[in-house]
Amino acid sequence: SAERTLVLIKPDAVRRRLVSEILGRFERKGLGIDAMVLRRIDARLADLHYAEHVAKPFYPALRDFVTSGPLVALVLSGSGAVGLVRGLVGATDGRLAAPGTIRGDLASSSRENLVHASDSVDTARREIALWFPELADPGTEPA
Ligand code: CMP
Repeated sequence: SAERTLVLIKPDAVRRRLVSEILGRFERKGLGIDAMVLRRIDARLADLHYAEHVAKPFYPALRDFVTSGPLVALVLSGSGAVGLVRGLVGATDGRLAAPGTIRGDLASSSRENLVHASDSVDTARREIALWFPELADPGTEPA
């Protein structure tokens, strides 16, 4: 069924000039781009986006990383988009991610892993409301 998912092409990807390589993989798979912006985020948005990780030991370094420079935030759409994008992205740790995936081919760190993608349809709804409130479903809680 038609789904939307929130993707971040993280600051390491922008610094490494990998934006078009990563975006191209999503486009070639047939996903649509419903929204896209290049921006640098502050700690407040990082904390809201990563609410489930804020208390974890790796979070301070993760926050510093995601606020370290501009990233590309986008909403991708298509049939089964949430799972499709997770499959293209690969496992969190680039050292463990399968070859053929974005992280498996291009990343070699667990933190600087180039991409974030919503992990479920519910998470996607929350993350889209946070990053692109103008796209949110009516009735979605504002951040
Ligand atoms: P992401 O898919 O955006 O979701 C949480 C992020 O936390 C993850 O990508 C990584 O950037 C980071 N992360 C997850 N696990 C670790 C870890 N063990 N050490 C450092 N960073 C991590």
